[in-house]
Amino acid sequence: EAAAEAAKPSFTFSEVSFGVDETHHVAPGYSADVLIRWGDPVVPGAPAFDPLKQSAASQALQFGYNNDYLGFAPLPRGSKTPDHGLLCVNHEYTDEEVMFPGLGGEQQEAKFVKMTKELVDIEIAAHGGSVVEVKKVGGKWTYDPASKYNRRITGETECAISGPAAGHDLMKTSYDPTGTKVRGMLNNCAGGMSPWGTWLTTEENFNGYFWSDEEKPKADRYGVPGKWYNWGVYHDRFNVAKEPNEANRFGWIVEIDPYDPTFTPIKRTALGRFKHEACSVAVNKDGRVVAYMGDDERFDYVYKFVSAKKYVEGDRAHNMTLLDDGVLHVARYNADGSLEWLPLVHGQNGLTADAGFKDQGEVLIKARLAADKLGATKMDRPEDVEVNPKTGAIYVMLTNNSRRKAEQVDAANERAGNLWGQVVEMLPPDGDHAATKFTWNILLKGGNPKDGAVGAMFNPATSDNGWFSCPDNCAVDHQGRLWITTDQGEGWFKASGKADGVYAVETEGALRGKSMMFFRVPVGAEMCGPEFAPDDKTLFVAVQHPATDGVDLYKPFGRKSTFEDPATRWPDFKPNMPPRPSVVAITKQDAGVIGS
Ligand code: FEO
Ligand code: CA
Ligand code: CA
Ligand code: CA
Repeated sequence: EAAAEAAKPSFTFSEVSFGVDETHHVAPGYSADVLIRWGDPVVPGAPAFDPLKQSAASQALQFGYNNDYLGFAPLPRGSKTPDHGLLCVNHEYTDEEVMFPGLGGEQQEAKFVKMTKELVDIEIAAHGGSVVEVKKVGGKWTYDPASKYNRRITGETECAISGPAAGHDLMKTSYDPTGTKVRGMLNNCAGGMSPWGTWLTTEENFNGYFWSDEEKPKADRYGVPGKWYNWGVYHDRFNVAKEPNEANRFGWIVEIDPYDPTFTPIKRTALGRFKHEACSVAVNKDGRVVAYMGDDERFDYVYKFVSAKKYVEGDRAHNMTLLDDGVLHVARYNADGSLEWLPLVHGQNGLTADAGFKDQGEVLIKARLAADKLGATKMDRPEDVEVNPKTGAIYVMLTNNSRRKAEQVDAANERAGNLWGQVVEMLPPDGDHAATKFTWNILLKGGNPKDGAVGAMFNPATSDNGWFSCPDNCAVDHQGRLWITTDQGEGWFKASGKADGVYAVETEGALRGKSMMFFRVPVGAEMCGPEFAPDDKTLFVAVQHPATDGVDLYKPFGRKSTFEDPATRWPDFKPNMPPRPSVVAITKQDAGVIGS
């Protein structure tokens, strides 16, 4: 009887069949409705979207591009209202070739020739984030374009800099000699909502926006200058020769109060500078708060921040100071299943002036170099990290690492040429998130479990639809169930041959490691966002960059998408309307809980 109980599935839906086509698919018995799309009016007064009449001024009032993280902030604040709230959305990056007419499907350098200052300024306005008031009426979600809460944060919005690196010499530029304010947040990927109701949004691949006039400049440990975009041709602050410190002002966790549309976003430097993914905050049993974060690069690290001060229920002003003071740690995963959190503190463990770290500010600005020095474990692209409040377990999504060689494998990153990724579970002792020693194990390893050469690991009860590659974002619903979304990138053809999607994953008992496919995206898109409403009756997901990833490898299409000829015109399917990254609200047709 105990065994039968342990094998009881947490999920009872019927799976979506794997595949790839022009539209999205959800499990039978569910509805998946587009809630808001790139270009839809957000700030009151915004014009309707016209892809042939784009401007930076319009885009700064309209929903931005490439929605990634989604956070739900209930209205009123402090409630658990499941059908009315503010959706906090990250706009990670832009895809010029499908956004703008006439850009073609060329490689980056050729594309730069056609990019004008006008188009660059639209791109800058399409980055950042949106806050949008949303409501479920008669079982369907809508957003309110007239809401006083709605706002756009762009690559030009003034942000404050706080914590130990604020005012540091390395943070000063010619237009901000104080080193305490910066225009914009960039490449915001995953994130989290804090226990005090703020949005913690994460700057990831900021290096790509920095330009050098040199043809092949040498990049630093962060990949600056990346030259993925040519903004530096038109804006001096993105040219590293003209403003060498500007790049130090990106790569941070940004805290935003979604309930106050006039709030100045704050870059919290105590949490370190790297290519941030996720910021999952747990209130520890002693009252301190612990934020878990990933640094998404091949061979980079998993971090956590432990606050100095304690969370005080109901004292929001106090709680909004917690992320300015505390200790950042980086993880070392030992082969015996133990895990050590190594503190990044100036003056300790060789983090001295002689080693290139003048003070704590410099340790945080150069967090990657400090972590290198401490001997942290080089991981297979750490993406989202989530805490399961029901069990205390913490899940780490490791996307892939094709560059890991056989001599570089370790216990947590076991596969060379890893195209498929894995999920690591971390366990704090007695639920103490602030502890410096944890244990860890592997929950699953991505890839086709039927192909012995891949070395995948799923529960054998997983179907052909249910296995996946490249875990990226994840969410734990209010019952403690894990949901994982995938980002296989350009290589989806090799990683699985399936479109990205949402997978429900068992974490406890005899079915641990069983995965089921719940939703899949249109061709060329990536699955982001997953966020549950407080009653688990809505799952919000973000469909990012439809028509782009790997469509040149997808035989029915076989060439790069352009504005004029995209691989899909999802979600509108109207001639002359380009594909549009969009947020989708998933509900059960019988109004029940998602997945059960
Ligand atoms: Fe923006 Fe690491 O995904
Ligand atoms: Ca991600
Ligand atoms: Ca998440
Ligand atoms: Ca991603």
